[in-house]
Amino acid sequence: MTVIIILILAILFTERKNEGCPNLLPAVFADPCPKGWLGYQMKCYYFSVNEGNWTSGNSHCSSHNASLAVVGSQETLDFFLRYKSPPDHWIGLQKDSGQPWRWINGSIFTEGFFTLPTEKGRRCAYLNHKAVASSNCTREEFWICSKDMFKSIA
Ligand SMILES: *[C@@H]1O[C@H](CO)[C@@H](O)[C@H](O)[C@H]1NC(C)=O
Ligand SMILES: *[C@@H]1O[C@H](CO)[C@@H](O)[C@H](O)[C@H]1NC(C)=O
Ligand SMILES: *[C@@H]1O[C@H](CO)[C@@H](O)[C@H](O)[C@H]1NC(C)=O
Ligand SMILES: *[C@@H]1O[C@H](CO)[C@@H](O)[C@H](O)[C@H]1NC(C)=O
Repeated sequence: MTVIIILILAILFTERKNEGCPNLLPAVFADPCPKGWLGYQMKCYYFSVNEGNWTSGNSHCSSHNASLAVVGSQETLDFFLRYKSPPDHWIGLQKDSGQPWRWINGSIFTEGFFTLPTEKGRRCAYLNHKAVASSNCTREEFWICSKDMFKSIA
């Protein structure tokens, strides 16, 4: 008799415990990034298959609720260099006339783990095969988009 009661209690307890789970489990195990995007350090990244100028690259990213990628750490830079295809890729770093270089999130760029070689007329930054470089913004290049992982679950 005691055994049966314990069994019933155990079953009831298990069922109750499961009630809240079915919605949670798929979210935990689902790929947190959209199809075709790569997850890395809580962000989702997209390496474009098309080329365009800096603005059209960023517009494409915006249409996916993302922006051209910011490079916040040496690890992220290494990740980009490892996973991007060999051609140049735009990133979210740009300069308006008479203004300092700014990340697309609005922060002023300061040289840290990488330096930005620049010249007059070069107002948009990209990644070449080994480092960050700058050029005019009208060149046709590939690009990298980034967005917060949580943004793409919701
Ligand atoms: C972008 O965000 C808006 C508003 O949150 C949403 O309606 C739309 O589906 C999102 N688009 C993509 C491509 O994720
Ligand atoms: C913008 O991105 C840069 C580079 O990742 C970062 O250092 C800075 O804190 C960011 N600023 C904001 C407002 O998120
Ligand atoms: C931008 O740079 C590319 C390649 O360096 C060059 O072919 C093009 O003429 C330049 N465009 C302008 C407007 O300076
Ligand atoms: C960028 O490319 C788009 C689409 O090809 C074009 O409409 C736009 O004029 C270009 N902008 C610049 C600044 O080159």
